[in-house]
Amino acid sequence: MTEEYGLLEVEEDDVPGDQWEEIDVADTEADRIARKQDREFLEFRKRIKDTEQFKVEASVFDDATLGALYKLVQDGYIDAFGGPISTGKEANVYTALGPDGEVAVKVYRISASDFRQMREYLDGDPRFEGIGADKKKVVVAWTKKEYANLERARKAGIRVPTPIAVERNVLVMEYLGGEDDRARRLNEVHVENPETAFEVVREYMRRLYRAGLIHGDLSEYNVVVHEGELCILDLGQAVTVHHPNSREFLERDCYNVASFFRRQGMEVSDDDLLEFVTEPEPDPSADLEE
Ligand SMILES: Nc1ncnc2c1ncn2[C@@H]1O[C@H](COP(=O)(O)OP(=O)(O)O)[C@@H](O)[C@H]1O
Ligand SMILES: [Mg+2]
Repeated sequence: MTEEYGLLEVEEDDVPGDQWEEIDVADTEADRIARKQDREFLEFRKRIKDTEQFKVEASVFDDATLGALYKLVQDGYIDAFGGPISTGKEANVYTALGPDGEVAVKVYRISASDFRQMREYLDGDPRFEGIGADKKKVVVAWTKKEYANLERARKAGIRVPTPIAVERNVLVMEYLGGEDDRARRLNEVHVENPETAFEVVREYMRRLYRAGLIHGDLSEYNVVVHEGELCILDLGQAVTVHHPNSREFLERDCYNVASFFRRQGMEVSDDDLLEFVTEPEPDPSADLEE
């Protein structure tokens, strides 16, 4: 494995501003599809429940989740489903075949979601004001938020899976990995060059912060190595810097990241990392002075 960990270039004139798009959680097309239960949908539902690799988990999906998958197939984002990559606490991740190759499909399970913990991240985020307490709406908002966060991070020059589509509680994104297996997480690989890896991760943390976002669950479990690059995953819980607990989340991210690199034999302190990440951006007009 090459361990160069090159930094992604920032698209200079594509840096996001501070406008927050509002997130719409009205009934989705997927809900309507599930409600209508027309013949094509019922056939799809039967087919997907019979798919060998998909079977076990697919049988626990509710009709509206199957409606979302159906819609993504109809819209041409998914041609065929592959097997599961991960079964997490709140979401399952699968591979699938899209029109341009393999994609990753993350399905949030409405019933399994830790609703109270999710609220902690959503309350105080200006994009979610007035969303109420409906569990389905919270999960749908969460999924859309992950899509928006990935897009924002990508534009700010952070290597993340490129988001492709979002429908209700299902997110389609770029698949990271090879033909045989998904990309390994930092906790699963031998990091040959921890100094460079640390420099890249802290630069990504700083870029994310400057784009107004804090990851909120950053650790060696949410960073993968893909084609010699480090990629940040799992931005569902990322909050804006306006969030009342954003500082606490950032401090925890710094602690997790610094601890990991300390275990790789480096001398890094949580405070130095925090200072690096939050250092104010140099004022471009400063060049003109003197
Ligand atoms: N786009 C992707 N490409 C390849 N593997 C992925 C992708 N997204 C997630 N994974 C795999 O699935 C696991 C769980 O995904 P993640 O987004 O971290 O969800 P969770 O909330 O369950 O931790 C990751 O650790 C990674 O191994
Ligand atoms: Mg994760």
